[in-house]
Amino acid sequence: MSEQTFKALVVRETSDGEFNKSIEQRHVSDLPENDLLVEVHYSSLNYKDAMSASGNKAISKNFPHTPGIDAAGVVVSDKSGTFTKGQEVVIFGYDLGMNTDGGLAEMIAIPADWAVKCPDSLTLKEAMIYGTGGVTAALSIQKLEKMGAKPEHGSVAVSGATGGVGSISIAILNQLGYDVIAFSGKTEQTEHLKELGATEVRHRDSVNEVGSRPVGRELWANAIDTVGGDYLANLLKQTKAGGAVTSCGLAASAEFSMTVLPFITRGVSLLGIDSVFIPLEDKKAIWERVATDMKLPNLESYGEEITLEQTPEYLDRFMASQTVGRYVVNVKG
Ligand SMILES: NC(=O)c1ccc[n+]([C@@H]2O[C@H](COP(=O)([O-])OP(=O)(O)OC[C@H]3O[C@@H](n4cnc5c(N)ncnc54)[C@H](OP(=O)(O)O)[C@@H]3O)[C@@H](O)[C@H]2O)c1
Repeated sequence: MSEQTFKALVVRETSDGEFNKSIEQRHVSDLPENDLLVEVHYSSLNYKDAMSASGNKAISKNFPHTPGIDAAGVVVSDKSGTFTKGQEVVIFGYDLGMNTDGGLAEMIAIPADWAVKCPDSLTLKEAMIYGTGGVTAALSIQKLEKMGAKPEHGSVAVSGATGGVGSISIAILNQLGYDVIAFSGKTEQTEHLKELGATEVRHRDSVNEVGSRPVGRELWANAIDTVGGDYLANLLKQTKAGGAVTSCGLAASAEFSMTVLPFITRGVSLLGIDSVFIPLEDKKAIWERVATDMKLPNLESYGEEITLEQTPEYLDRFMASQTVGRYVVNVKG
């Protein structure tokens, strides 16, 4: 990287409405005028990055654009005085990678109050193995705990099990002593899901066998849904009385249809998860948890490392649901 330029993934819209992804040299002076300039060492890939990189204007309105909702790196300068040069910081959510140039680049310029100090017990790479996907898993589990979930109450079902949020959810739940029922469309990944900590692996379509019935048999104490649509509705219908289901994603669908019966006859709760706009204090708190009691042993084994140059190919794989687990991007590699 020269003093004035840096490497970045750039998505460009062509005149016929296509979106092309390539690695380009950009100028630091092209970045938005924000207080905090960070040299990015690691980023990660998330479903939202793939949506942004494919030109989904609900995520990113203006192109050319650099996606990347996660970044971990070293402070170059901070006009706000919050951070000192050389400090290690992590950033996820807010507008990073959406309409503010994101972490799939060697440099980002952001408001200082989007960043938190990297926890002492995590390396920058480990922080990005969690990244948005891992932190969302942790937020989902934390919300179930706040509702009173305990391992002795019974299993936790996890949908989208091989995805970034799903796979880290399984691993953290297992570490905390929960039995996990993993629902996945990738039956060939059964052994991998068991190695992550799933007690049982079922095909994702089996969630939907309850059909149009307003409630089904009570099969799990709590659930973490990452896919939305009928899967979310049918997880709710089969949750034990007093249990809860978290909802963070829409890989299957943003819409679902069901009756209120699981809520009013079984006291089941639906819990929304937002990792993007939660207060900075809550972000600091969840980073501390993933760095302490939720920290996974052999953390490096949960993320496949790729280079910035490989990101166009891997972002396409996300859209085709051909990815498994977390992908950490060695931006400077
Ligand atoms: N609310 C928040 O703050 C927040 C934060 C992070 C992520 N999210 C959202 O959470 C979701 C998961 O994110 P991620 O990064 O884990 O994505 P991901 O790695 O792409 O995982 C999504 C998983 O969902 C399953 N899936 C994909 N297409 C499906 C379909 N059509 N029907 C049913 N299942 C399908 C697949 O798992 P199997 O093959 O194993 O079934 C896939 O691996 C995304 O919608 C993302 O936008 C939200």
